[in-house]
Amino acid sequence: MGKPLISASILAADFARLAEEAAAVKNADWLHVDVMDNHFVPNLTIGLPVVEALLPTTDIPMDCHLMIENPDRWAPPYAEAGAHNVSFHAEATDNPVAVARDIRAAGAKAGLGVKPGTPIEPYLEILPEFDTVLIMSVEPGFGGQSFIPEVLPKVGVVRRLIDAGELSIIVEIDGGINADTIEQAAEAGVDCFVAGSAVYSAADPAAAVESLRRQAAAASKHRR
Ligand code: DX5
Ligand code: ZN
Repeated sequence: MGKPLISASILAADFARLAEEAAAVKNADWLHVDVMDNHFVPNLTIGLPVVEALLPTTDIPMDCHLMIENPDRWAPPYAEAGAHNVSFHAEATDNPVAVARDIRAAGAKAGLGVKPGTPIEPYLEILPEFDTVLIMSVEPGFGGQSFIPEVLPKVGVVRRLIDAGELSIIVEIDGGINADTIEQAAEAGVDCFVAGSAVYSAADPAAAVESLRRQAAAASKHRR
């Protein structure tokens, strides 16, 4: 495992000042943008026009998390716009491999998201088509929820394949990551940690990013 990545989630930022809020976490590895359509999840956030407006204001690689129906149609434009990683949900499409190929063809990394109750086993065979796997540790739709530790065995399943040399993928976790929960996720084998409220509710968001990264790096040395 390399250095842990922190993906700062602007869902917890001030939406009226998105460019400034992105600049406040310059040291984040990725900038996590939660796209919700009020169909796949019971909440509505921002979409492609806002992502297109935000992209040129920041150098931080953008990590778009699409909690939307019909990613077959809507995911590739995020890659075309210049997102670094585009994750969509396994539960939202019958053709995850086709969507991943379209995202990669448009020049971005492709990510497969799974909700807390979705097993990972049915998707292991297609993970080589992806660059990232986004394991949700809360029910998607809202920030500020409590971490669900029961998802960590899924991290372990993927991590063991990586360690065995059978797969190359970034394991990302999303939901409830903070100073109290990041260590158990790191010990389970997570590479990339999404953090929203833990970063933006801090007086100094950049310091929070740095502190989370340091905690994850130390804990990943004690892998289970
Ligand atoms: C939830 C989103 C998360 C959210 C995490 O549906 O996918 O990315 O921003 O927020 P926290 O870190 O507050 O749990
Ligand atoms: Zn997210």
